[in-house]
Amino acid sequence: MKRISLLSPAKLNLFLRVVDKRPDGYHNLLTLFERIDLCDELRFVLNKSGDIRIFCDHPGVPAGPENLVYKTAELLKNDFALQDGVDVTIRKRIPVAAGLGGGSSNAATALLGLNRLWKLSLTKKQFLSYARTIGSDVPFFLYDCSWALGRERGDRVRKLSLNTKLWHILIVPTIPMYSREVFRGVNLRLTKKKDDVNILIRALRKNDLEKAGHFLLNDLETRILELAPDLGRLKTKLLDFKPQGIAFSGSGPSLYGITRSRKEAEEIQSAFQRREHEVFVVRTF
Ligand code: C5P
Repeated sequence: MKRISLLSPAKLNLFLRVVDKRPDGYHNLLTLFERIDLCDELRFVLNKSGDIRIFCDHPGVPAGPENLVYKTAELLKNDFALQDGVDVTIRKRIPVAAGLGGGSSNAATALLGLNRLWKLSLTKKQFLSYARTIGSDVPFFLYDCSWALGRERGDRVRKLSLNTKLWHILIVPTIPMYSREVFRGVNLRLTKKKDDVNILIRALRKNDLEKAGHFLLNDLETRILELAPDLGRLKTKLLDFKPQGIAFSGSGPSLYGITRSRKEAEEIQSAFQRREHEVFVVRTF
């Protein structure tokens, strides 16, 4: 096999509780991941030069070692003492540094793609160990599932057997926000410890969108609004359209709402098309 193309999907966090700060500087989390159908496309082509080369149609995506796909390829190439290199072309659709897990998803896709291209026969344990080394959100994307719970750094993942498919309106302001910066200033006393992810999961299982919308949570919201106060106005405007609950995703500025149908999401989308943000209609994937 000389080349492989794979989709690399984004995620939303429907629940993100910051439990506490750890001695290693990270935070323990309890988070509900939802995979959505907003996808990048990655193409891997074997090369004999031995180089790792990244090509991307998005100017904000680095082509060097800061790129998580590069980092993944470099780790594997060194550990397995490989002679062959790889050319990776990333067709970027997932907004960058937006809390949608694009970079982490690309890294997980690279692990899966390079395992085949370079014939590494990685075990499940090796996949997970590489994923955790590369980033907290990477393990979720290794699992072929729409829904999962993440604990510890978000990297201890348990698949959930939920058949629910949701429609969302997703608004991504062009304000890149970096996880490190968001987590650094989080005030653990302001987080809502009482909310329960199990209530949300039960509501989703019953397709009770109203209740599910009520139990969306993101403990990073106060910090996100502190970094970008204009997002408060965006939230108020989205609330005017009365979706079934809204929340920010992960440690980024992306705001999403659950809608009752695709049509409702598209109606909200047309009211939000502006230069200062990208607007998507997305579904559980
Ligand atoms: O794991 P990842 O490299 O994606 O994390 C980026 C940054 O986000 C970390 O350096 C850390 O500052 C912060 N973070 C955290 N707690 C987590 C995940 C990320 O504090 N559970």
